[in-house]
Amino acid sequence: MAEALQQLILDTLDAQGTIKDTRALVLPGHQEPAASHDAQVTILGALNSLASREMITYTTHETQSHVLTPEGAQIALEGSHEARVWAALPAKGEGTPVTPAELKQKVGDEAAKVGQGRAFKNGWIAKEGNGLVKLVPSIQDKTQLDMREVDSTGTLQEGEKALADLRKRKLIVQRKGQWFTVQKGPSFSTSIAKPETDLTVEALTSGAWKTSTFKKYNFEADGIPTNGGALHPLLKVREEIRNIFLEMGFTEMPTSSFVESGFWCFDALFVPQQHPAREVQDTFYLSDPSSSLPPPKAYYERVSKVHEHGGYGSTGYRAPWSDQETRKLLLRTHTTASSAAMLYKLAARCRGEEDTDDRSGLAHDHGEVHAQASGGAGTKRSGAVSQEGDDGFRPAKLFSIDRVFRNETMDATHLAEFHQVEGVVADKDITLGDLIGFMKVFFNKLGMENLRFKPAYNPYTEPSMEIFAFHPLLKKWVEIGNSGMFRPEMLEPMGFPKDVRVLGWGLGLERPTMIRYGITNIRTLVGHKVSIEGVEKSPAVRF
Ligand code: PHE
Repeated sequence: MAEALQQLILDTLDAQGTIKDTRALVLPGHQEPAASHDAQVTILGALNSLASREMITYTTHETQSHVLTPEGAQIALEGSHEARVWAALPAKGEGTPVTPAELKQKVGDEAAKVGQGRAFKNGWIAKEGNGLVKLVPSIQDKTQLDMREVDSTGTLQEGEKALADLRKRKLIVQRKGQWFTVQKGPSFSTSIAKPETDLTVEALTSGAWKTSTFKKYNFEADGIPTNGGALHPLLKVREEIRNIFLEMGFTEMPTSSFVESGFWCFDALFVPQQHPAREVQDTFYLSDPSSSLPPPKAYYERVSKVHEHGGYGSTGYRAPWSDQETRKLLLRTHTTASSAAMLYKLAARCRGEEDTDDRSGLAHDHGEVHAQASGGAGTKRSGAVSQEGDDGFRPAKLFSIDRVFRNETMDATHLAEFHQVEGVVADKDITLGDLIGFMKVFFNKLGMENLRFKPAYNPYTEPSMEIFAFHPLLKKWVEIGNSGMFRPEMLEPMGFPKDVRVLGWGLGLERPTMIRYGITNIRTLVGHKVSIEGVEKSPAVRF
């Protein structure tokens, strides 16, 4: 039907140029023009389908039309009450008149009651004795004819007064109607090609796409409802660790610079320029742009001097210094690169400079950080509450959790990028004991009560310690992090006074997350093999 109707519309347009009034169309399988409300609804469906392919355009006209009530529909079928009353009676003088009681039995209460009055008024029936008889041999049932006319045309030729009368009798009701005028569209044709919905490989290779008609996008269509969002397990653990740092009074460092220079990632940290970590097997270097802007000049000179010739009580590396090495751009291999930049900033006032960069989060937080750094973690020696003195130093407790990159061979537990968690505390005269104290509080909050420390080596810390914990879930000792007291060779060129000590520790985010969620292959946690369902179902973490 739908196809046949569309074809009819196209053929009519082809023959007549336009369709002035769709109510004049005779629908396939019908004899009468499609004047009814329902017919116009069907036509509208066909018009929309053709218009979406730009085969036609159409304009809508509104009308007031009428439809039958259930009672009206019954009359259209069986005749009016008065006609049925008339039909139930014998002709005058040809039989026994029908009594009102008998009439009720024949046509029903309702028709007998309403129909009698109208039949009398029309002069169709008359009283005879106690009963009723036909007065005329034949009648024209106008109500039934009206019902049929309204049913097929939605109106009456007779006009509004007659319609109003039928409305009052509750045989018809008004309804907004529509009809249409139709014109040829830009893609008019009399043959309906089913529009393509997909651009297929076949259509592309055969070139068929050039001549195909495509179904238009329906931007109004409702999309498939999405489930609510869910945090990735790594982000859940990240959030929990972040809260632990915040509880301990630490301030989050800005760590958005994934690309760093060799200067901040290594040189500033007193990592020798010949250190294996700097080689391309371990570090991703950028080819474009190939070098960084110059670091702050005076600081750069102090750093290069301590590397090449020593100073601050150090003999230095006594190896040739390369400016090119320092200017190389790379993907940071640890977040300690960001910590170094933050510490340099923290030392600004010690160098007699104004710290003007608001992004650091330091400038307005100093008072608070100071108070918390002095007592927050409960590890500071009594009496060592430092105040900002003439040297401009203010203590700080800083942390970061962000991404780092290493050019590693990838396996079940290693990827070329991962997240580091890092805590840094700067204050006067703090010691290795403070470092151990901070880490105990921190790792206890992560659910690791039992810690062991093993001497280790980092170019930028001395002493350095690896941290081991008896893991409650794995039930064995595992290495959980790395830590140390930053070297004077790193801190003093920044401008910190000699009595300022900075401690720090770092750990990966992936490993605790994998242990938490019982994940053995990192690829099920990170990358394109991660199951969305798994992400949605993984529970929140509380250590
Ligand atoms: N940067 C070290 C690492 O990558 C972690 C660390 C941070 C060590 C701070 C000492 C001090 O493993």
